[in-house]
Amino acid sequence: MTSQTTAIGIDIGGTGIKGGLVDLSSGELISERVKLPTPAGGKPADIVETTKAIVARLAAEDPTAPVGVCFPAIVKHGFTMSAANVSKKWIGLNAEELFETGLGRSIHFVNDADAAGYAESQFGAAKDKAGLIILTTLGTGIGSALIYNGVLIPNAELGHLEIDGADAESRASYAAKEREELTWERWAKRLQRYYSHVEFLFTPDLFIVGGGVSKNYQEFMPLLDLKTPMVPAVHRNNAGILGAAALARPGAA
Ligand code: BGC
Repeated sequence: MTSQTTAIGIDIGGTGIKGGLVDLSSGELISERVKLPTPAGGKPADIVETTKAIVARLAAEDPTAPVGVCFPAIVKHGFTMSAANVSKKWIGLNAEELFETGLGRSIHFVNDADAAGYAESQFGAAKDKAGLIILTTLGTGIGSALIYNGVLIPNAELGHLEIDGADAESRASYAAKEREELTWERWAKRLQRYYSHVEFLFTPDLFIVGGGVSKNYQEFMPLLDLKTPMVPAVHRNNAGILGAAALARPGAA
């Protein structure tokens, strides 16, 4: 255990970049939630600039707090290795180094769904739960995090399973529901196909569903027929901030 009790979490998304100062013992935001629009085009230098402005505001409240940043791509050794819903300029980039140079400080850099899964394992629906837990975030894409006996297994990318010849997130994400103006019932049919497949592949102990739409879980969860229990995420839109902050704590996973 370390005495570090606060950290800054930054969640970079396709439409907004959000940040907050987090109390690491309770998992609560102890600052306002700062949110700025993601610069058009999502180019690396522009995103770093916007992130810098948010970090500066939060660091003014707690200058020694470590910083965690989560991002919607595969993150391996600080490199962004994919770009499903952001500028392709991120692919193969040493993004962690780019942020560290831009912000003038070291950061912990992680995939956004992994951050959300870690937040749920520390402060939410997966806390103190054993076995295999799969968190999925239903948003612009489908993010996923695998947590086995409290340990995060990074970069699962289950949103990109190929199901019925299509990339799963292109049919079952919340963006697909909006784009195609699907009713809850029609969207639930796609979620059924998606979650049954994931269930068959992994036989998890629990599904946690995150992303903003999980606040409406009563509209679609009762329509799903799965063997695995499924619950909404506790933290929804703040999960990325909380998880990125928790992972920035020295000695975290
Ligand atoms: C990306 C993932 C990300 C998810 C949610 C997917 O398209 O490939 O890395 O976690 O979207 O943002």
